[in-house]
Amino acid sequence: MRVNEAEIVISAVSKTQYPSDPIPEIALAGRSNVGKSSFINTMIQRKNLARTSGKPGKTQTLNFYIINKSFHFVDVPGYGYAKVSKAERTRWGKMMDEYFGEREQLVSAVLVVDLRHEPTDEDCMMYDYFKYHDLPVTIIATKMDKVKKGKRPAQKKLIREVLEVDEKDPLILFSAETSEGKDEAWKSLRSHLKM
Ligand code: GTP
Ligand code: MG
Repeated sequence: MRVNEAEIVISAVSKTQYPSDPIPEIALAGRSNVGKSSFINTMIQRKNLARTSGKPGKTQTLNFYIINKSFHFVDVPGYGYAKVSKAERTRWGKMMDEYFGEREQLVSAVLVVDLRHEPTDEDCMMYDYFKYHDLPVTIIATKMDKVKKGKRPAQKKLIREVLEVDEKDPLILFSAETSEGKDEAWKSLRSHLKM
């Protein structure tokens, strides 16, 4: 996929702010600091259009990016960061429900997990939540550059088993450092975007 144009449309905190364009959307989900924003940047070949950080909790709003004037990537705040108050967690849950539960334009989700680690209970809940909403999911096991080649197949198998991934949903090894997995990821996303 050749990305010629990519820009931020809006950082939204409530649904009244979502763009109204009837174009397809792909939304990201995953733990804080797992690499969701980096995934977007690598896919669109921009260094820091989606703001990233070494510290968890960088993305706090629903950030809509328009790509090639034809679809949106939606960057989403991560979950699972310990230093978050109960009130913030509630706010996060409401924001997620408002978006994932109701958004007509949403065609598919990308669940980003860390290839080095076993998925957490929250990762499993997130995946189950998508399946409950009948959403096709592309699972991205990122930071593959941090896992030795020989160890990758076992980690991949572990993630598939723990998440109980549907046969139809691909699990793709990815690295925002080396761009490995990028073509495969585009192939999956394009199938949902029908491009
Ligand atoms: P929140 O917005 O806080 O939810 O985090 P996020 O999931 O958007 O993570 P982000 O993309 O900001 O990346 C977090 C950190 O991981 C940054 O320091 C990135 O440079 C690093 N990182 C992301 N992807 C990779 C990768 O594939 N390989 C390596 N080595 N580092 C990565
Ligand atoms: Mg982020």
